[in-house]
Amino acid sequence: MSHAEDHAGTRRDFLYYATAGTGAVATGAAVWPLVNQMNPSADVQAQASVRVDISGLEPGTQLTVKWRGKPVFIRRRTPEEVEMANAVDVDALPDPIARNANVQEGAPATDSNRALAPEGAEGAAAEEWLVMMGVCTHLGCVPLGDGAGDFGGWFCPCHGSHYDTAGRIRKGPAPENLPVPVARFDGETEIILG
Ligand code: FES
Repeated sequence: MSHAEDHAGTRRDFLYYATAGTGAVATGAAVWPLVNQMNPSADVQAQASVRVDISGLEPGTQLTVKWRGKPVFIRRRTPEEVEMANAVDVDALPDPIARNANVQEGAPATDSNRALAPEGAEGAAAEEWLVMMGVCTHLGCVPLGDGAGDFGGWFCPCHGSHYDTAGRIRKGPAPENLPVPVARFDGETEIILG
């Protein structure tokens, strides 16, 4: 976390992380009696969903929650960030695949295939939200956010991987885009992971 503590924007992420992490633990505690009784495999326990209140997020801010033991970035992007993401030639990307568990496997890494749309959202509102695992696809470090790196998105200082405003790898050793987990909106102010 030393990198994060050096980075003002990410320090804000960390505070959210601590708060949201408590909620995630509470969720796990609630489901434990049932799964313990059933003596399930570890991967069944890992399926527990987490509900995240995103009503306090303004455009240009993000939070990090812990889900299945890993950080998940939830960012409400500015129109400029969405515009930058849409200006990219998808075929020229190092990884042209969306890597989004919510769209068809192998779908192209367009911005709309990376974003999470609230139900019924259209146009810019459908691309405002980005939800993705905060785990670098190189060796698993947690990238810095809030416009970090050469492409205005996230930067992993471990070995210098740069991700753009849609979380797509643009430069550095990471082989794939930051994966988008199973997620959906519940109304306009909550996102359910898993
Ligand atoms: S772990 Fe991210 S660049 Fe190596």
